[in-house]
Amino acid sequence: MTSIKALVAESAGLTSIPPRYTFTRSPDDEPVSDDPEDSIPIIDLSLLTHGTPDQRSKTIHQLGKACQDWGLFTVINHGVPESLMKAMTGACGDFFNLTEEEKREYGGKHVLDSIRCGTSINASVDKVLFWRDFLKFFVHPQFHSPSKPAGFREISLEYSKRGRELAMELLKGISMSLGLGDTYIQNALNLESSFQILIANLYPPCPEPELAIGLPPHSDHGLLTLLIQNEISGLQVQHQSKWVNVNSAPNAFIVNIGDQMEIMSNGKYESVLHRASVNEKATRISIATIIGPPLDMVVGPAPELVHRETNAPAYTRMKYKEYLQLQQSNQVDGKSCLDHV
Ligand code: SIN
Ligand code: FE2
Repeated sequence: MTSIKALVAESAGLTSIPPRYTFTRSPDDEPVSDDPEDSIPIIDLSLLTHGTPDQRSKTIHQLGKACQDWGLFTVINHGVPESLMKAMTGACGDFFNLTEEEKREYGGKHVLDSIRCGTSINASVDKVLFWRDFLKFFVHPQFHSPSKPAGFREISLEYSKRGRELAMELLKGISMSLGLGDTYIQNALNLESSFQILIANLYPPCPEPELAIGLPPHSDHGLLTLLIQNEISGLQVQHQSKWVNVNSAPNAFIVNIGDQMEIMSNGKYESVLHRASVNEKATRISIATIIGPPLDMVVGPAPELVHRETNAPAYTRMKYKEYLQLQQSNQVDGKSCLDHV
């Protein structure tokens, strides 16, 4: 299928979007709040890793509150070099600039293909197409990457290592905030072999941004998602039944809770619905790192959390791989996949 990038390039002066890209919003989808009351929690990671015991325990508390109230927060002083984040967004921009033919080499079809690029999410089940091109590649426990353009592989390897380290620090804090030991989640889910995917998204300028959607409302399937972007915003998150624009500080990571965390925490930390809007002027690039348990891991609520709070698991146990297949075979529609678990 033609990429959005090519569609825009081939139709210079495009003033309207093809009908297949018109996304019908439900009435409660709008409006978007820019209320300062709705500002996204900010976590200073350096206080967690190098702070005094007091700063550390305050940060763990803030982290728990952010997970519970929002399912999303931004992270500053995270230790990932700014130059590496810029190099990664630049490299992804260069990847999308390859010719359509070069990109076709990576046009995998199956959800478990280790490198896959394309447009829309799943054209066979999604009736409406999204204003977004993507590249997904599995970077852990085995590292896979496109070999073009030059330097892409090396930058992705370094970026994925640093992203994994950041995720592990956050998971330690989250584990403590749940009243579990700091390495509980890492050990229980064998995160030495964690499954990690990088997803690069390209959202070209759209002539009718209010009619199209970059990505429809969805939750992410993993434990945590770490997102960076070029200087253009577009992520929106659902908070207390309102959609809120996520405006992050430059060089911050935007982190959200995924479905496996919701299951593991027995619903204490719910995965958050989010979507990507598009704009008329600028090309937006975002890069999501999804960190999850190993694909063969069966995930269920942590017994410690079940006994203490509800005395009954709120979710059945399921292999992460099966969950992922179930999610990706469904039409993207909010969090409907968790209903099956
Ligand atoms: C995503 O949900 O994976 C990406 C959202 C974004 O581009 O902001
Ligand atoms: Fe997402």
